[in-house]
Amino acid sequence: MKVVILKNAAEVAAYGAQIFKKQLNKKADSVLGLATGSTPVALYNELIALANKGELSFKHSKSFNLDEYLGLDGDHPQSYRFFMNEKLFDHVDIDKANTQVPPGNAADPVAACEEYEQAISAAGGIDIQLLGIGRNGHIGFNEPSSSLASRTRVKTLTKATIDDNARFFAEGEYQPHLSITMGIGTILESKKVVLLATGSAKAEAIKATVEGPLTAACPASALQLHKDAVLIIDEDAASALSDPEFFKHIERENQQLEKKLGQ
Ligand code: GLP
Repeated sequence: MKVVILKNAAEVAAYGAQIFKKQLNKKADSVLGLATGSTPVALYNELIALANKGELSFKHSKSFNLDEYLGLDGDHPQSYRFFMNEKLFDHVDIDKANTQVPPGNAADPVAACEEYEQAISAAGGIDIQLLGIGRNGHIGFNEPSSSLASRTRVKTLTKATIDDNARFFAEGEYQPHLSITMGIGTILESKKVVLLATGSAKAEAIKATVEGPLTAACPASALQLHKDAVLIIDEDAASALSDPEFFKHIERENQQLEKKLGQ
């Protein structure tokens, strides 16, 4: 996997946004896999700014979000549908009919998971999947012990994740303990994966992701099996890696090569 270590969260967002810009400019009808959490917000702001400058368009794209809380309607302020509208969709030229978030209010969640998988396949698969990472190494809501071959399904959240995400809920507000999430197998099928991580709270999860072993105990370690996965992380998130200088060296070499090839 490719690991890009940058100075801070702002550089991570800008670098990640350039990858999405390249993707959308190469394939206007790209199928985007999108993520929630606080980490991708800065990248979404960069994408909105680029769209406002006319440097990219979402007009012909489609999107599928990774996950949603089970039991929340899309108009609930803590739902991931609400989050996506507020942080990205309301500010760009994407057709909302082409944006999908797993339905948190599905009458039959099991059938809804199957339909979500079918919708991804019918769209031709995900071209580029954005990911954050939980402190316990979760991706989407695939908590430790998730099958590395898992598909979209209902997943129980760990206490650690519930506690981490409690900051988004008001005191006494109902916080779901269940979710619908794309599986690790679903994520591994996307053509490209871009994982963002910033801050020292993610350092151990990043070490486990990059240095292995490949294990369900760290769901993000499954990305070691992906042929086009890039981790874009800041110095703090990289701080537990055994040899961060190696990745910086590779990135410098890559930049030089790209310059030479005029990319
Ligand atoms: C949630 C989401 C994940 C996200 C994680 C980390 O649990 N389901 O997709 O990666 O939070 O969030 P943050 O970026 O806020 O640390």
